[in-house]
Amino acid sequence: MGFMVWSDNLSIAVSEIDNQHKHLIDLINNLYDAMKMGKGKDVLSVTIDELAKYSVEHFSAEERIMQKFSYDGYTKHKTEHDSFIRKVTEFKQGFEAGKILLSIEVMNFLRDWTVSHIAEVDTKFGAFLNTQGMK
Ligand SMILES: [Fe+2]
Ligand SMILES: [Fe+2]
Repeated sequence: MGFMVWSDNLSIAVSEIDNQHKHLIDLINNLYDAMKMGKGKDVLSVTIDELAKYSVEHFSAEERIMQKFSYDGYTKHKTEHDSFIRKVTEFKQGFEAGKILLSIEVMNFLRDWTVSHIAEVDTKFGAFLNTQGMK
């Protein structure tokens, strides 16, 4: 069993976004596995980078859809995305500079943030998209 497991209760009822969340979860699991296997700094750096880049890509995709449908909660939702990106970027830079180690605390933060963001903020957005005919 992976560090993070996709389950239907994480579905926001919009398949395109669900698929992106599944990929995000895969990338968090890859990072956890690399940490557990004691991979070196180079491998961990690449893995963190993949997660950071995909997070930016995924958040931008959601924000484009929000703008397309003039979603009311856009600003608040984007603020959450931005703060996650800031955290991940800080972590990535600190890790590369040798100031921060990849730890279970970091992994738990990534997992808990992702689960609560999907379950609360994205789910609300998904319900709105359903009213706009997007599934
Ligand atoms: Fe999302
Ligand atoms: Fe989101």
